Amino acid sequence: MPSLKPADLAHLLAVRGDFVSLGHAGGQYTATVRANDKAVRSRAEPGSLWVAEHRRNTDRSPGPVLAMERRGSGWCYAVAASDGAVLRAGTLRDCAGCHAAAPSSESVFTTVGPGTAGASEEQGRD
Ligand code: HEC
Repeated sequence: MPSLKPADLAHLLAVRGDFVSLGHAGGQYTATVRANDKAVRSRAEPGSLWVAEHRRNTDRSPGPVLAMERRGSGWCYAVAASDGAVLRAGTLRDCAGCHAAAPSSESVFTTVGPGTAGASEEQGRD
């Protein structure tokens, strides 16, 4: 799993910004979803990295960083603190169980539309 520190995440493309996460923590966080180039191109090619950063809705204080990195035919999931310190990582069942229900494919919920590259505006969902 690459570094999940805020300064390093800033180099990833923000593909969906500032929406209340319905998937994580019961709607108490506003999320930004970021992806590396591979993930933007192919969603789930080995090396694809997706990251969901969270801020508390009430005071915008930083919350957990959740990540998923494609390794071979599966995903490595990770939970990190807001400073990027990884708390647990692996084929985490709690993550994988829900992500398997993603409507699109390959356990990824976020869709990246044409023309998204380089932009950071809000993306619609399927
Ligand atoms: C109950 C369902 C559910 C669980 C459990 C869950 N997620 Fe998600 N996840 C979602 C949904 C839905 C989205 C789409 C954006 C949103 O609503 O937050 C998402 C988005 C993401 C994204 C951005 C890429 C994408 O798929 O859109 C990452 C990264 C992510 N989750 C990681 C994790 C990790 C790591 C865990 C385990 C600690 C986890 N998730 C647990 C439902 C879930």
